[in-house]
Amino acid sequence: MNIITVKDAQEGGHKAFEIFKDELANNAQVFGLATGSTPITLYEDLVASDLDFSHKISINLDEYVGLAPDNPQSYHYFMQQHLFNKKPFAVSYLPDGLAKDADAETARYDEVIAGNPIDLQILGIGRNGHIGFNEPGSPLAGKTHKVPLTQSTIDANARFFENGEDVPRFAYSMGIGSILTAKHILLMAYGENKADAIKAMIEGPVTTHVPASALQNHNNVTVIVDEAAASKLS
Ligand code: F6R
Repeated sequence: MNIITVKDAQEGGHKAFEIFKDELANNAQVFGLATGSTPITLYEDLVASDLDFSHKISINLDEYVGLAPDNPQSYHYFMQQHLFNKKPFAVSYLPDGLAKDADAETARYDEVIAGNPIDLQILGIGRNGHIGFNEPGSPLAGKTHKVPLTQSTIDANARFFENGEDVPRFAYSMGIGSILTAKHILLMAYGENKADAIKAMIEGPVTTHVPASALQNHNNVTVIVDEAAASKLS
């Protein structure tokens, strides 16, 4: 793994932007994208740039089951707000939260990934080492699947919904195996609360207990960490 330590998320966004730009210069066609707070500084730099994605393809990692694309809590909506409204791609794939048949939807998404090999995959990491919605215990070679959300995620999301029943209980997520098919993986992590996960991902054994540790098995991984997230590395 190529580890780049930066001062803060702002500088991390700039570094990630340079990597994105280099990939475009190398004719990358397909970009794997993530939601969450971590990639926001990268997306800000992309939006402020003169880069053009109108002939490129994006594939997002995950989406909540049951949420429509125009629901402000959906990952579709997040991507529109933070990137796609300003920088549209030719095609942007996300799992369809409203799909009637979960098996058909996960199979469709696997076909999307197989048909559009990802050149650069952007990742954040959870405090417990999750990537996408692949929580500890997920198979390291898994494909797209429907995941039950942990009670802590359900509780954390509850404040965004008027009705308890509307809080998503499941999500669709690319599997760890799907993520590992990307040619280049760029994982970013900022803040002290990511330090244990970063240490386990880089220095610990490859184990289903730390989903991100599977990245040790990939030959082209770049990790951008701020000093706080890097603070437990030896
Ligand atoms: C988001 C995703 C998640 C996040 C992770 C970190 O699409 O797949 O794995 O990357 O939960 O979230 P933040 O960046 O909010 O700390």
